[in-house]
Amino acid sequence: MRFNDLDIYNKSLNNIILKSIQKELNKNNFIFSSTVKKLENNLLKKVGSNYSVTTGSGSDSLTLSLLSLNISKEDEVIIPSFSWLSVLESVLIVGAKPIFIDTDLNTFNIDILDLKKKITKKTKAVISTSLFGRTCDLYSIKNILKKKKIILIEDGAQNFGSILKGKNSLNVADISCTSFFPSKNLGAYGDGGAVFSNKKKFIKTIYKLRNHGQSKYSIASTDRPGLNSRIGTIQASILLEKLKKIKSKISKQNILYKRYQNFFLKENIAGFPLYRNSSKIKDSYSSFNIMVKKRNKLISIFNKNKIPFKVYYPRPLYKQYKLKKKIKLKNTEFLCKSIISLPYNDLSKKRFNLVLKKLKKIITKDRKIFFEKKT
Ligand SMILES: Cc1ncc(COP(=O)(O)O)c(C=O)c1O
Repeated sequence: MRFNDLDIYNKSLNNIILKSIQKELNKNNFIFSSTVKKLENNLLKKVGSNYSVTTGSGSDSLTLSLLSLNISKEDEVIIPSFSWLSVLESVLIVGAKPIFIDTDLNTFNIDILDLKKKITKKTKAVISTSLFGRTCDLYSIKNILKKKKIILIEDGAQNFGSILKGKNSLNVADISCTSFFPSKNLGAYGDGGAVFSNKKKFIKTIYKLRNHGQSKYSIASTDRPGLNSRIGTIQASILLEKLKKIKSKISKQNILYKRYQNFFLKENIAGFPLYRNSSKIKDSYSSFNIMVKKRNKLISIFNKNKIPFKVYYPRPLYKQYKLKKKIKLKNTEFLCKSIISLPYNDLSKKRFNLVLKKLKKIITKDRKIFFEKKT
């Protein structure tokens, strides 16, 4: 058993994907092709925003977004303290000051009250990650930022396909970024990413910045240095096929989340965000993470029982890159010490039942590893 088993899903698409790759091989146009344009258009249809641009990765999408805002050394960018490295990296790359926010333990996303406290006159942007597929509270954040001229960026690398108040989540913030890393909800067979916005000026700038600061094919319009961050045609053709099937993939992932949740609730165990699925809010759960009291003990049992796991994330972002910040955010510190990610994605029924069976045994033997649900 593997932690994140893409075998079943990707193999089921083999024939279709091979055909689409062959078509592109015949055309020999691997960058800026009509297939890339088609992907950008189809993504727009899915997301519903006015503009989209594809990039080389989710990390680049964040960096390009900040570059498009002309953020300078004096500016502050508010970010989660519990998220993937790219969020912090993007701020450091543009040379701005990262301001870290504590985590809400009910959602694993940013703590809105802490965000409110940390806004200053220097705040230029807020990046909020929708972690593990649960969309962060973009509307509350928008409300806080209203009339403040602070740009809200959603890091939607992990929740592609989510709906918030009836809208695709990537159509709510000022700028929305996503990733097509292979294990993401919409995963390529290599790297890729995209940025969405309803404001033309952001996407127009990112269009140039992802291609060394050039307009599509003309060097005449080069005005500032950018990156080489373009998705290739082959990856775009794969994503076009996978986009057609994204709904059923997400619904399978959500079923897995619900099954984990039902299992733990039945055992009276807490420590994970509760599943949301109403007519207005639909999350796209990309992993199942639970806080436990004795993680080291659980890890050694998992190792003995061959249950694959990961720890997302073992360190607060303010402890990365030798920042030497004297910050201690209570919930984030707690989460980094207690969280563990269970096997997910494409698990066959048989393999999933085996995981539950083994978990049941562990709970029966030592409930104290876990947090009890308060009654
Ligand atoms: C929350 C989050 N943000 C950003 C990224 C960056 O995406 P990529 O790997 O495509 O650069 C990831 C990917 O792992 C992620 O999980």
